[in-house]
Amino acid sequence: MSKTWDAIVIGGGAAGLFCAGVAGQLGKRVLVLDHAEVLGEKIRISGGGRCNFTNLHSSPANFLSLNQHFVKSALARYPSSEFIKLVSAYKIGYHEKHQGQLFCDDSAKQIIEMLFAECAKGKVNIRHPVTVQSIAQDGDQWTVHTNVGIEKTKSVVMATGGLPIPAIGATAYSLDIAKQFGLKVVDPRPALVPLSFTADNFGNLNELAGLSVPVRIASGSKGHRYGACRFNEDLLLTHKGLSGPAVLQASSYWEEGEPIHIDWLGAIERPGGFNCDELFNNEENRLKLTETILASVLPQRLAKAFADQKGLTGRKWAEVSKKDRQALKELITNWSVKPAGTLGWKKAEVMLGGVDTKELDGQTMMSRNHPGLFFIGECVDVTGHLGGHNFQWAWASGFACAQAL
Ligand code: FDA
Repeated sequence: MSKTWDAIVIGGGAAGLFCAGVAGQLGKRVLVLDHAEVLGEKIRISGGGRCNFTNLHSSPANFLSLNQHFVKSALARYPSSEFIKLVSAYKIGYHEKHQGQLFCDDSAKQIIEMLFAECAKGKVNIRHPVTVQSIAQDGDQWTVHTNVGIEKTKSVVMATGGLPIPAIGATAYSLDIAKQFGLKVVDPRPALVPLSFTADNFGNLNELAGLSVPVRIASGSKGHRYGACRFNEDLLLTHKGLSGPAVLQASSYWEEGEPIHIDWLGAIERPGGFNCDELFNNEENRLKLTETILASVLPQRLAKAFADQKGLTGRKWAEVSKKDRQALKELITNWSVKPAGTLGWKKAEVMLGGVDTKELDGQTMMSRNHPGLFFIGECVDVTGHLGGHNFQWAWASGFACAQAL
């Protein structure tokens, strides 16, 4: 039996390492336990190896949770600007890619090294691979049994992440511990995940594999668990259907059996704005071919595919009836398709659901009924949109917890 720790953090990923580093630097004696051979694997593979480590515009509106207000306090206390300061202090080069998304110029490994350096500054003890066998409350202390011994601590921080990518060691351990202590868990579900489609969904569009088009995509509805969404993002046509950031964003709000809606003209950016009526009602287009008019705003092959679908290819606009113009407009601006399913945990980036936020104090991430038991990062029912928001939640929830240890 060794000394009593101030905190044992279970899970040395983004949230766990960050929390441990902050707490250690506040003078707390912190032990991190992780079952993995290599730590920070999700960070290493994130953002295509460049880690989209935060988003300039991260705000509560970028998160799904049964309680939309839960993230507010933690995000306000540790906004993206604070993490950017830390990254800058370590002289890690970064750039903005798209809609406020910040990526490392070189490698995600720099973020992992920074987290280890922060832990070293706080004299954090990191042990892995270690199997945590059980966690028990013992008066105002906690006992953690592992395959290499027993540890005592004042606080336990559960930071084992979500279920995506089981091949790199994802487990439901935080959710199991929550249930062990009687905390409610919102059913986990894959999110930011590719959707699967059946070939007959697409007509002639699956001949256009490889095409990437900015669209407005909508999914979900007010009555759904996390409501509805509308994103302007890039949509990729593939041999199997649709993919790319637009579909990943929509997947978090999608419910089985429901369609998603795509406005192929909804994300067109023009000085002074773009109104699709200008396209469909413009009499200057009278002598142009239907596919030529569409190709002024859509990739040529896509324009032709839509004209083909309505039998209007080769027809001058003046010859197209009002009814047919309306049907074409409806097809292009409210294209709806029913996904068959998701590609599941193997391909998901994050988990929807997790420890119900009603069970936690939003200022500290501590269990309301079990003082000393904390949950941070992805295991909590807080899921960010694509674009660096999930790491921002890992940092912000880790920071809030560290102040309370
Ligand atoms: P994280 O998964 O980081 O860490 C959990 C830790 O717990 C791991 O070290 C694991 O080994 C350990 N663990 C698990 N079970 C355990 C057990 N039973 N006992 C002990 N230890 C255990 N987000 C973003 O904002 N920008 C991005 O660019 C990306 N890109 C991205 C790409 C891919 C392919 C994926 C899968 C995910 C992303 N994400 C992302 C999401 C992001 O990686 C994720 O939200 C955070 O890593 C969550 O941080 P956590 O610390 O909660 O879990």
